[in-house]
Amino acid sequence: MKKITSVKETLRLFPDTTDEITNNVFSTERIVKAPSIDLPDFLKPNTRLKMDGLKLLSHLPKESVPVAFLDPQYRGVLDRMNYGNEGKSREKRRCSLMQMPEELIAEFIRSIDSVLIPSGHLFLWMDKFHLCQGFKTWFDDTQLDVVDLIVWNKDRFGMGYRSRRVSEYCVVLQKHPRRAKEVWKIHNIRDVWLERTKTKEHPHQKPVGLQGELIAAVSNEGDYIIDPAAGSFSVMEAALSKNRNFIGCDLEG
Ligand SMILES: C[S@@+](CC[C@H](N)C(=O)[O-])C[C@H]1O[C@@H](n2cnc3c(N)ncnc32)[C@H](O)[C@@H]1O
Repeated sequence: MKKITSVKETLRLFPDTTDEITNNVFSTERIVKAPSIDLPDFLKPNTRLKMDGLKLLSHLPKESVPVAFLDPQYRGVLDRMNYGNEGKSREKRRCSLMQMPEELIAEFIRSIDSVLIPSGHLFLWMDKFHLCQGFKTWFDDTQLDVVDLIVWNKDRFGMGYRSRRVSEYCVVLQKHPRRAKEVWKIHNIRDVWLERTKTKEHPHQKPVGLQGELIAAVSNEGDYIIDPAAGSFSVMEAALSKNRNFIGCDLEG
C-alpha cells in the first residue's frame, strides 16, 4: 500500500476525514514559504564571514529567513565554574573567545526576531544555569515564544563540581503565529539526542546531525539559514547537507 505523506493527499483519498485531519496537530507538509532576498555584495552566502553578528543581522531584510541558530558565548559559565584551569590547557581557547554579556545576547535575539518570517524558528543553545534560573527577559520585547527543548547528549565526560556534564540544551523558540501543523514537518526527532561530534575544531562545537534535522523540519530546500555567532560553522555544514543556503559569521572568522 502506498504510504500517504501529506495532509493534502489524505484529504484527496479520504475526503470524509477532513475534521479529523484538520484537527490533527501533525503534518508532514510545510506550507510556509520564505521570500527571495537580495543580499549586499559583502554578505557572501555559504562562506565563513569574519564580522560582528549584530552588523550582519542589521543588513538582512526584515521577515526574510525561516531559521536562525544562536549559540552565545555565555560569560556566566566561566564566572560560575571557576575551576582554576581557566586560561590553561584546554580552557585556553574557551577563555580567549569574546564573551557575551546578557544585554548583548538579548540584543542578538531582538535582531533575530525582526529578520525571522512569521512562524519562523530560533534554535537557542543554552547553558544549564540560564536554563534553570530563567532567560525570559531576553525575549520579552519580541514575538518569540518557547515551544520545545532538546537535550544534546554529547557522549563526552565534561566538568562539574557535583554531576559531570555530558549534556547541552537547545531551546526552540517560534515567532508568532505559533503553530506546528504545516510548519514543522519531521516528527521523529528525539528530545534527547545522542551525537558525538567528529572533530574538535572549536571548544563549543554543536552537533551537525541534530542541527541538520532541525533545519530540515522547519525550512524548505534553498532557504537561507542564519547563525550570527557561528564558531566552527557547524550550522553551515548542517544547512549545506540539507541543500539549504547559509549566512553567518563569527568575530574570529
Ligand atoms: C559558543 S560559540 C559558537 C559555537 C558554534 N555554535 C559551533 O557549533 O561551533 C560562540 C561564538 O560567538 C563568537 N562571538 C562572540 N561575540 C560575537 C559577536 N559580537 N559577533 C559574532 N560572533 C561573536 C565567539 O567568537 C564564539 O566563536
